[in-house]
Amino acid sequence: MKWALAKDYEILQAEDRVSAIEAFRSAHPAVVLLDLGLPPNPGNPEEGLATLSDLLALDRAAKIIIITGQGEKEIALRAIGAGAYDFLNKPVEMEEVKFLLKRCFHVAQLEKEFREMQQLLQGDGFEGMLGNSPAVRTIFDSIRKVATTDAPVLILGESGTGKEMAARAIHQRSSRKGGPFVAINCSAIPETLLESELFGHEKGAFTGAHAQRKGRIESATGGTLFLDEIGEIPLPLQVKLLRFLQEQCIERVGGRQEIQIDARVVAATNADLKKGMAGGTFREDLFYRLSVVQIVLPPLRERENDIRLLAQFFLQRFAAQNNKSGLTFDPAALRALNQHNWPGNIRELENCVKRAVIMAEGKRLTAQDLELAAATQNANVTTLKDARENVEREMVQQALRKHSGKITAAAVELGVSRPTLYELMEKLGIVRE
Ligand SMILES: Nc1ncnc2c1ncn2[C@@H]1O[C@H](COP(=O)(O)OP(=O)(O)OP(=O)(O)O)[C@@H](O)[C@H]1O
Ligand SMILES: [Mg+2]
Repeated sequence: MKWALAKDYEILQAEDRVSAIEAFRSAHPAVVLLDLGLPPNPGNPEEGLATLSDLLALDRAAKIIIITGQGEKEIALRAIGAGAYDFLNKPVEMEEVKFLLKRCFHVAQLEKEFREMQQLLQGDGFEGMLGNSPAVRTIFDSIRKVATTDAPVLILGESGTGKEMAARAIHQRSSRKGGPFVAINCSAIPETLLESELFGHEKGAFTGAHAQRKGRIESATGGTLFLDEIGEIPLPLQVKLLRFLQEQCIERVGGRQEIQIDARVVAATNADLKKGMAGGTFREDLFYRLSVVQIVLPPLRERENDIRLLAQFFLQRFAAQNNKSGLTFDPAALRALNQHNWPGNIRELENCVKRAVIMAEGKRLTAQDLELAAATQNANVTTLKDARENVEREMVQQALRKHSGKITAAAVELGVSRPTLYELMEKLGIVRE
């Protein structure tokens, strides 16, 4: 067996129960081939069956294949009942072993991916934010750190990247958690109303001000004030806001009294504030006050593995809501999800999956259900050469990703030499991460 399998598998050998357990503990193989006739009593299956249960006690998910003598059907069944994955009859046929091993490793791999996915969906989310890519892990760390302070935070990122979610996470993680989280979208409120909305007004401050009213800033006392689309705030109000940030106090419109406010400020925008500053529409002093800490959310297209993770998460959620549980993506759909550029980021992905779940008829979501097929086909494929290069690019990128950028391993996987792989990467403009 060793000679026949060494080319495809890494093999550990053990001659009795004790050394089998030792080897299993140290290397943790996904698959075990186990003969039931073991020393000191090779004529009897009991030592083998005991080894089986010892190994399963170490890992329920281990795939253990039992090897039994001819005519020992009953024993084989006992082993299966005890948790063995399958059995082989002696004399062992190498073709059969190879076939079985291949299937075992495949199932073990699927189970492993499934467990990882489950863990991510359950335990590892961060205040409801999912993500496993390095960039996002760094962001979770930053949120953890800034949450313990009262420093203003400026959250930047394209539309739909999760800016509001990050702001809520900061609030949830802070000591102000028990206080209010007050969000105000500066671009959604007409300029003329924004001032009184933010700062409140006194009775009679302007026509229509029949009663005194507290503004949003005031109502955030003890909690967090989230100023969304801060880039849209008009210049005169920027001055007033700056004053609030510097002195922690405000005056209501039409009022004379200074009101002390204890609120933590988090602001967000997808606009380019640097441009605003250069063009004179955004005050530099306000920018520096707001951005004591900056958190920049990466676009979804740069969070490659997260696309799949988030898509699976939204699929489970919407499938459950629509009584369509058991829905899965077919492989082409997953590829299309990965290829899409996601200009609308997570919000776009969420809506895309939601719509597809509603439209889906079978048990599998296709690229057509996601309405992404067109996008992939349009990718400027005009000639055979373009098409070939697209496929090459996708495969090379996948292989590199799978092997964490290791050239040798990726080359082996693709069946080309290392120099050829380097040439391909250069031709296709692929840079190793
Ligand atoms: N990390 C994440 N995990 C799960 N869902 C997320 C994540 N980030 C964002 N979402 C979801 O994506 C959608 C958009 O997020 P959010 O509203 O926070 O983005 P935004 O950056 O404020 O968008 P916009 O710029 O359009 O206001 C929401 O439905 C949110 O629940
Ligand atoms: Mg938002």
